[in-house]
Amino acid sequence: MRSWQVYDSRLEVAEMAAAAIADAVNNSSGVFTIALSGGSTPETVYELLAGKYAKAIDWQRVRLVVGDERYVPLDHPSSNTRMINELLVAPLGGALGEFMTIDMELDWDECADDYDQRLQSVELDLVLLGMGADGHTASLFPSHYRPDDTRRVVTGYAPVSPHQRISLSLSCINTAKQVMYLVTGGDKACMVCDVLTSEPRVDYPGSMVQPNGNCVWYLDRAAASELPPSP
Ligand code: 6PG
Repeated sequence: MRSWQVYDSRLEVAEMAAAAIADAVNNSSGVFTIALSGGSTPETVYELLAGKYAKAIDWQRVRLVVGDERYVPLDHPSSNTRMINELLVAPLGGALGEFMTIDMELDWDECADDYDQRLQSVELDLVLLGMGADGHTASLFPSHYRPDDTRRVVTGYAPVSPHQRISLSLSCINTAKQVMYLVTGGDKACMVCDVLTSEPRVDYPGSMVQPNGNCVWYLDRAAASELPPSP
């Protein structure tokens, strides 16, 4: 079931998302697995989680996995793993239960196959996603992904550099118990309106994310500016 919430600013989107993540973990039991996204809005969420929520979440029960990655070394400026490590994992010290990363020592295809194998037994409790103005989500880009791919992890091609990507597949994302979209900025307003008010379209990967569980869109006013007024 899809729904959206609109907030005044990107910071408020991040604050509300961080609070929702804390609630989701604290209202669960056992290992709680979160797939993390790249992107600017998620970065603010990670800073909040490592700061304000460092002591408010039972991090020992949390397993973090990389939802999508650029095929670059883990210390590369464009690496999502580097960003997540710097903003969230390292500041938490040893408190975090597990951070599953992609083995970038392998070649591109082997990377995806190895990560796919390691994720076979992992259930995704929460997947964080962003979306680009072109409708891409994770590293599933229009015309460069296979919506029917049944693997959990796939290679992807991005029209923007770094072009080689590794990503959770659409089918894997749709197994998640909950998906949280973090989308801000007026440049995405048309795509947000298309995705949230029209039928799913293969050429808009963001519209194909229809998990069995909840899918909540956290939007700022700019990204929501083309949406019809709430009923
Ligand atoms: C990535 C992300 C990508 C991102 C969108 C939105 O690796 O870049 O996974 O899918 O979420 O491009 O990014 P912004 O939130 O920065 O606009």
